[in-house]
Parts: sequence; C-alpha cells; structure tokens
Amino acid sequence: MQTVILAAGEGTRMRPLTAHRPKPMLPVGDRPLVAHTADAAVAAGASRLVFVVGYEAADVRDHFGDEYAGVPVDYATQTEQRGTADAVRAARGRLDDAPFVVLNGDDLYDPASLESLYRSAPAVGAFRVDDPRPYGVFDVDGDVVTGVTEKPDDPPSSLVNIGAYAFPAAAQQWLDVEESSRGERELTDVLARVVDNCDVRAITFEFWTGVGRPWELLGANEWVLSSLERRVDGDVHADADLRGPVVVEAGASVDAGVVVEGPALIRRDASVGPNAYVRGATVVGEGATVGHAVEVKNSVLMAGATVGHLSYVGDSVVGRDVNFGAGTTVANLRHDDETVRVQVNEESTDTGRRKFGVVVGDGAKTGIETALNAGVKLGAGARTEPGETVTRDKPTVTSTE
Ligand code: G1P
Repeated sequence: MQTVILAAGEGTRMRPLTAHRPKPMLPVGDRPLVAHTADAAVAAGASRLVFVVGYEAADVRDHFGDEYAGVPVDYATQTEQRGTADAVRAARGRLDDAPFVVLNGDDLYDPASLESLYRSAPAVGAFRVDDPRPYGVFDVDGDVVTGVTEKPDDPPSSLVNIGAYAFPAAAQQWLDVEESSRGERELTDVLARVVDNCDVRAITFEFWTGVGRPWELLGANEWVLSSLERRVDGDVHADADLRGPVVVEAGASVDAGVVVEGPALIRRDASVGPNAYVRGATVVGEGATVGHAVEVKNSVLMAGATVGHLSYVGDSVVGRDVNFGAGTTVANLRHDDETVRVQVNEESTDTGRRKFGVVVGDGAKTGIETALNAGVKLGAGARTEPGETVTRDKPTVTSTE
C-alpha cells in the first residue's frame, strides 16, 4: 500500500538538537528515527513511500534517495507547517487513487502492530495510556472507532491516536478540513469523516512512543537497544570486558581496561578507552570518542562527539561534534529526589525521569572542569568557561569564533 510519512517538522520542542537537522533525522540506535518507521512500513507492506518534507528537507532526501529497501521513494514539500491534514494534502498529487497509509515520521511504532494496521485497513493505530488528555482519544464500540476527540477533559476511553492511519482512497477528497482551534488542519478531523462513512478498526499497538522532547529521544533509544544482539565487528582489546548485548561496529575500537555493560552500541569508527566505563542503554555515535577515565551511562553521543578525559555523562543527549573538556561532569539526579525538569519552548516541563542529565546541541564545547546541572540545555555551538557551573540553559549561537 502506498504510504505517506510526515517528516516536514522542525520539532521546536527538541531544540537545540534540531538546530541543524529535522526531528525525524535524529539518531535512534543505528539509524535516524524516521528510518525505523520507513523500515517497519516496508516490512508491513508499503509498496511506495512518499515523504512530506519541509524543514532541512535535504537531510531526508539524502538519506532515502529515490529507492529505499526495494521500494520507490517520492517527496512532497510542505512549505509552511499548517498541520497534518495540510501535510498529506501536499502529498495528494503523488498518490494513486487507492487506499493509503499515513505515518508520523517522528514516532516509533512496533513493527508487528504496524503490520496488522496494514492488513486491517481501514484502520487506525491506538495505544492505551494512563492519562489520555494530551492526545486525540478514540471512542470505540468493540474495536470499531465511533469517534475521535482532540485533547478532551473527559476522555471517552484510554485509547489514544498515535498518528498511524490506513485510509480508504476516498479520504484523499476529505483533506480540506477547516482549521482547528489551535490554527492547524488536523488529520483527526479527516479521520472523523472517514469514521462517519465506513467501519474503521482501532489496532492497539504493543509499543508506541512519540519522540517530541529530548528525554523521549532517550526513551526511543532505550526501546530500540532493548532488542540489541551482541555483535563485535570492530577491534576489541583482550583486556576489555564487554558484558551482555554490546555491538561494536566495524572500524570502532575498544581499548584495554574498558567495561561496557550492554545494551550498548559502539558505532563505526568510534573509540572507547583505555579505562572507560560505558553502561545503560548507550549509543556512542560514529567517530565519537570516549576517552580515559570517562563514564557514560544511558546516553546518546552523536557522531563525532568527544568526551576525552576524566568525565561523567549520565542520562544525556550529546549532539554531533560536541567537545567536553577534561573533567566535565554532568549531574543527573536532584538532591530532593524530585523528577528532573527541562525548559521546553520556554516552559519548565517535567521529564518524569528521576535520572536525567543534559541536552547538548551540535558543536558545543565545554571548558575543563565544567559542571552541568541536571536538566540543563547547552545550545548548538555554545561554550562554557573553565570551571563554570551551568545551572541555566545557554542559547544556540549561530556563528562561533
Ligand atoms: C497529534 C494528534 C493527536 C495524537 C498525537 C500523538 O497531536 O493530533 O490526535 O494523539 O499527535 O502524538 P499533537 O502532538 O500534534 O498535539
């Protein structure tokens, strides 16, 4: 079935990680977030992929090209972000007059559930949550959807909309919906029309997560790494100790005295050690460096990031080509034991995590002995002084000296 993947968004709530790349291209395990969706879609029966692109579109085009995993790929551009129905409308000219699937490019779906969505069209993906109020919520009769309400105060069920739709062909004519109260043209309004016209099944997914905020990127990596299987293609010193599911890709090296407790993924050309400790669900990105006496726990270091000497990095997301000066230390736990809060679009937001460290934009550099407080964000290209204690976010800088 032809499949539209929505990948036009910047992801302002992910800043500063999206300063130089669109949110769907953030790394999860060994590939971009949206590649997990594309792979699962192809395995589930996508015959063709149409990506809707916008912000930093070249990144998406460069990754997927004209053909991906054996299926043809096409692109549609959404110039302004006016909502998900508007995004699919941008792709309408690329679609055959036939049923089609629409998937969010910045959500992670479990592949087996996605396959049942494809098999059950017309259908929508659903997920059971404790508090459905921040979502679109389904009203159901058995497994047939009878209605959908956006962000209800009094939810009709605990089954929420996860942005995975298998639409009948007719839905292509129903994309011109009115703007919603938040000023967007929403696919949920399109879905409401589909529900009025045919039986739409709710497929309850085993796993789903939206990846909208930095700590959700950690959650996405934790989930993907949870099914990692041990593989060593790189160069591992005889005195290194790899415990559990650890992958060392070709070209990577792990030196003497290193302990890696899986799941951990050491990507190609990365170097770890000597005498380093890597644990939790950690990704050491392509060409990244974890040096002597450095501990990295449950974190994502993106390509080219360097944590060279005597540092601790816990529960953090560290962008591309970041450099941590010797002795840089991250706090990932509050003394009052409360969950860590992060500023998201100027609003203090609870991560729900007792352990959360920092978020560091591409190319930032810390001076030696920098102390970074739990929940702090360093903008892309930001700098800290030697010995600086950072308790407030630093903005992204556009040019660096
Ligand atoms: C959108 C949909 C909502 C859905 C959610 C899932 O909301 O409108 O129905 O539950 O995605 O992530 P948004 O994230 O744009 O507020």
